[in-house]
Amino acid sequence: MDGKEFSRLRSIKGMKWTKYPSDILPAFVADMDFEPPEEVSEVIEEMVRLRDFGYRFVDIDRLIPAWVNWQKTQHGLEVPEGYCKIFTSSIHALEALMVLHTQPDDGVVLFSPVYHPFATAIEQAGRRLVDVPLRESDWTIDMDRFRDSIDEKTRVVLFCQPHNPTGHVFSKAEIHDFAEIADEKDLLVISDEIWSDLILGNKSHLPLADYGTGLRERTVTIGSASKTFNLAGARCSVAHVGHLPTIEKIDLFPEHFLGQPSSFGAAATVAAWTYGKPWLEETKEKLRLNRSYVYDKFKSSDVRMHKPEATYLAWLDFSQTEIFENPAKHLLKEAKVALEPGSKFGAQSGSFARLNFATETEILEEIIERILKAI
Ligand SMILES: Cc1ncc(COP(=O)(O)O)c(C=O)c1O
Repeated sequence: MDGKEFSRLRSIKGMKWTKYPSDILPAFVADMDFEPPEEVSEVIEEMVRLRDFGYRFVDIDRLIPAWVNWQKTQHGLEVPEGYCKIFTSSIHALEALMVLHTQPDDGVVLFSPVYHPFATAIEQAGRRLVDVPLRESDWTIDMDRFRDSIDEKTRVVLFCQPHNPTGHVFSKAEIHDFAEIADEKDLLVISDEIWSDLILGNKSHLPLADYGTGLRERTVTIGSASKTFNLAGARCSVAHVGHLPTIEKIDLFPEHFLGQPSSFGAAATVAAWTYGKPWLEETKEKLRLNRSYVYDKFKSSDVRMHKPEATYLAWLDFSQTEIFENPAKHLLKEAKVALEPGSKFGAQSGSFARLNFATETEILEEIIERILKAI
């Protein structure tokens, strides 16, 4: 493979294109191969041109208003700025708020398979992981199992809407049942909604905080430009904390305790939320095409996949193939393609692997061809 775009990808220092030797095509970590919106590059270039590297808070101060406005225009979610807090990444927000609301050994629920840092966060914080596996037939929550898994020391539930790695968008009916249980069991809900701008099907994003006051008042909604605009390096996240006691606890901390994003990350993020809409629409079109391409290719093979309703991730089930034991390991060696191993997302997912399809057509075609040849 050659061409200008391929050389750019080969020269960047991000982990996607540096972790493996150059004969491996990377489709593991959730960075896109597309350049972010031009307005993002312009604002960073302007900072470099002016050597504007000092104490520069202007964009940090604009982060919350820019996110609140983005949520309103994108998803109709209206949240007061005074209930929003800035964090240095989505997982920073998730960890800080989970730790703040729990004691060691308290239970924290997650719905596996799920973005693996959720489980790591629970375990490293010395909290008890309460795993409620999703139903493999349609990635919905088994509500009875959810209710039964909660004891009096279970305090938090981690939600991911839309869901990584399955691409599932939880429906209103599911959120209704979920909300009833969260209320009955008095759980703090930490809802990671950083994929919400990347719904590719016909559904709209349903923010948990918009379901009704009962749920809003126990929910933290985490937002970020990192997935939507390919800006994971910005290290910037905003969370709406609907749960008043948690806001009060955060406000007891000294000013710098939770850290602060850099002025570069803030500037990039504000530019994306302010000017990025046309770029996002174009990017979603490309992702829809790629999603169909991947789906159609695997349809006639032994690899099974649901068409993801959101994200740019294909959650591939290799259980009907000969490489069912550790497909990602096998494909790295035999196909020279790097996927995320399914077992990272849940103990039951060893025969799965996650493929990131946010890449150029030529690269995607080569990745799929190599996988199909190897199985
Ligand atoms: C669901 C989910 N949450 C959080 C993250 C990480 O986001 P951040 O870099 O803002 O911590 C990812 C990255 O892929 C993700 O998929």
